[in-house]
Amino acid sequence: MIVTIDGPAGAGKSTVARLLAERLGFRFLDTGAMYRAVAVAALRRELSRDDAAAWADLARRVEIRFEDHRILLDGEDVSDAIRASHVTAHVRYAADNPQVREHLVQLQQAIGRTGDMVTEGRDQGTVVFPHAECKIFLTASPAERARRRVDDLRQRGEAPEFAAVLAEQIARDERDANRSVGPLVKAPDAIEVVTDGLSLDDVVHRLAALATARKGSAT
Ligand code: C5P
Repeated sequence: MIVTIDGPAGAGKSTVARLLAERLGFRFLDTGAMYRAVAVAALRRELSRDDAAAWADLARRVEIRFEDHRILLDGEDVSDAIRASHVTAHVRYAADNPQVREHLVQLQQAIGRTGDMVTEGRDQGTVVFPHAECKIFLTASPAERARRRVDDLRQRGEAPEFAAVLAEQIARDERDANRSVGPLVKAPDAIEVVTDGLSLDDVVHRLAALATARKGSAT
């Protein structure tokens, strides 16, 4: 069974998806981490942002895999490096590149064929797993999402300004929604869950109930 969780940046998808996967005994796939890993690889090689062919070629050449919730880029654990602000600022050169997307979508589908999984991103229920048994669209208000991002960056030792984080997030939402391939849209058959005012535990509990109900009706 595949459970997809799509939604905008800062909606809490990664944390929720990981906990939901644990609760259901499923594997967990963080697809944003894969786009981030491609950005890390490109930044390290100082590829020009405008050289879409070089980014696509690099995406196909590097090895991206997950091991115990860590992401490995050519064998190196880059789980922390992919979260840095300068990576966030450059990840769109991977995410907006149709050939990078095509390659990562194939990788995601291959991982999905190996068993039950909770997967999160922007296009999981629409493009990558259109036949998923349970689709969730997880969202929260822009201010709430920016607050969470600020907390997250503080914990990483950065000193972000709320206004700057909010402005960057609005720009990212805009790009996510308007991308020509794999845009962020709610699948018609996805269930929307708005997380403002809900605790993490509430959200996970609600999603686990939805997934279990879907599983029951699918068997
Ligand atoms: O979710 P996260 O912020 O880690 O995602 C990093 C970037 O990768 C996002 O800004 C989004 O544009 C992109 N992304 C995507 N498709 C996905 C997952 C993430 O385009 N399935």
